[in-house]
Amino acid sequence: MTMVNVFYVYKSMYMFLFKSCFAADMFISKRKHDPAHYMLKIESFSFLSEDHTSKIESDIFEASGHKWRLDLYPNGNGEDDDCSHISLYVGICNTDSCLQGWDVCVDVTFFVYDHIQHNFVTFQDVNGHRTRFHGKKTTWGFDKLISLESFTESKNGYLFNDSCVFGVEVTAVPEFTKMDRWLSMTKLPTTMNTYTWTINKFSAVTEERVYSEAFKLGKMKWKLSLYPKGNKSYTHLSIYLGVHDAALLPDGWKVYAKYKIRVKCQGTGSDIQRETTNGWFDNATDSWGFSSFMPLSQLMDFENGFLLDDTLIVEVEVSVMGMLRNFI
Ligand SMILES: *[C@@H]1O[C@H](CO)[C@@H](O)[C@H](O)[C@H]1NC(C)=O
Ligand SMILES: *[C@@H]1O[C@H](CO)[C@@H](O)[C@H](O)[C@H]1NC(C)=O
Ligand SMILES: *[C@@H]1O[C@H](CO)[C@@H](O)[C@H](O)[C@H]1NC(C)=O
Repeated sequence: MTMVNVFYVYKSMYMFLFKSCFAADMFISKRKHDPAHYMLKIESFSFLSEDHTSKIESDIFEASGHKWRLDLYPNGNGEDDDCSHISLYVGICNTDSCLQGWDVCVDVTFFVYDHIQHNFVTFQDVNGHRTRFHGKKTTWGFDKLISLESFTESKNGYLFNDSCVFGVEVTAVPEFTKMDRWLSMTKLPTTMNTYTWTINKFSAVTEERVYSEAFKLGKMKWKLSLYPKGNKSYTHLSIYLGVHDAALLPDGWKVYAKYKIRVKCQGTGSDIQRETTNGWFDNATDSWGFSSFMPLSQLMDFENGFLLDDTLIVEVEVSVMGMLRNFI
């Protein structure tokens, strides 16, 4: 069945699936009004096909708060062995300015103008999937949009006087705002992840506050900080757990975590442990902990075994139970 026949058979239907001439993963429909975001008109298509011009890149256009480009391969993108299809893609261009873990979710519709029916044929993901652009996926489209045979068949109306029009719409979907309210909670794991921080030559530390290296526990990177003389108190050791590089996380991030901090007893006594009721870490409060973890007098008394060979050992166990924003 040629494409033109299928068109006539179904022309009264509002929407139909065009399996015979198009790749099966496309949803094909029709629309009267122009694509809202970009149109690419080609005045002499035959020149492009004869020239085997591999790729036409549109200029950059803005849609849904981002910059995009339409990439057309008049003879296919090379994935197609016999170069018998047109390939069409949209790429996101402003990724440099995106925050780490950026993620843009849109509905993409491609258009090809039909000069006979005076409408556009539209091409979308057959399952209505939204397209998520992220660091590892900056372009999306169809390797086999239309076969060149169908495209050049004059009765189909795509090529008229050797000119044709392609278009695209990139529509933001409200999922992005929904994500703000999206919360993933997991049951408290039975085993927490532990990080051990060893501070040598503790008595020689002169800084008011010292930081551990960044460490990854669960899905997050953390760091510990400690005030050897207390956070302004000078009576108690202060220890805090903080989110590492919080400034690089996207706006609105929140992490719900439970944690335990221990100062290890290296002698025969027992460790000092403090644990939180569950708490949120967010942009405003990226560090939580205990200003009065333990009295400095208790720590400094060598008999107690918390400082052995002038070494202090701090352990932390963290379990992340919830996250707002799927940023990892
Ligand atoms: C066909 O294209 C040529 C060159 O672009 C133009 O001069 C001519 O007017 C066009 N003919 C019609 C019928 O549109
Ligand atoms: C240190 O103490 C001050 C005053 O109580 C408090 O505002 C601050 O958050 C504490 N530092 C940390 C890292 O929590
Ligand atoms: C996050 O915190 C920084 C520094 O405190 C502040 O400049 C920024 O406005 C905050 N962002 C949000 C979204 O609250």
